[in-house]
Amino acid sequence: MELLQNKILEEGKVLSESVLKVDSFLNHQIDPKLMLEIGEEFARLFTTEGITKILTLESSGIAPSVMTGLKLGIPVIFARKRKSLTLTDDLLTANVYSYTKQESNEISISNKFIQPEDCVLIIDDFLANGEAALGLIDLVTQAKATVAGIGIVIEKSFQVGGQKLREQGWRVESLARVESLSNGKVTFVNDKVEETI
Ligand code: G4P
Repeated sequence: MELLQNKILEEGKVLSESVLKVDSFLNHQIDPKLMLEIGEEFARLFTTEGITKILTLESSGIAPSVMTGLKLGIPVIFARKRKSLTLTDDLLTANVYSYTKQESNEISISNKFIQPEDCVLIIDDFLANGEAALGLIDLVTQAKATVAGIGIVIEKSFQVGGQKLREQGWRVESLARVESLSNGKVTFVNDKVEETI
């Protein structure tokens, strides 16, 4: 998605060989217009899959998910990382280990929001090692519902998550695929394709 790639090039900050800071439009301040375009793109990519629900993980997955839900006309559920005072229903839970933060989080959703007949699109902001996506897949599986696919805003393709999920047979659609963050510079997977044409 060219608009997103340009935004990353203009505003993203390379913090290290593996971490890209995009807090001016995705992880802290949010650019609603860009999120709407992202939602339209996910809706376009997954429109034929018969999706009934979107599942994401708080907090940065919520904005792109809501815009996608708006375009598809379906509800959005966000898994929580912390126990909620009001989340008193029966919970489905999964463990998500973050290599970045070196900590495990128990993520949870109320079991009433995903039913066996649901076809669920999983959306998240970043794909690194794939742990969050696998945790969300686990929740959908526990609910006996179907996973339609995984929509990712920014995939770091030099980390193992994308390969791991695709090898397991999941449909993964990433709107920007970062090939490398070496030398303080962001390069995308499709940059290479363009260079060889
Ligand atoms: P994984 O789920 O793919 O295995 O990723 P990992 O555990 O490494 O990610 C942990 C958190 O760090 C996630 O956010 C993820 O979105 C974020 N993250 C991973 N790599 C990057 C990166 O290069 N840049 C930025 N900005 N974030 C990255 P989180 O803790 O769930 O945060 P939030 O959703 O509450 O904002």
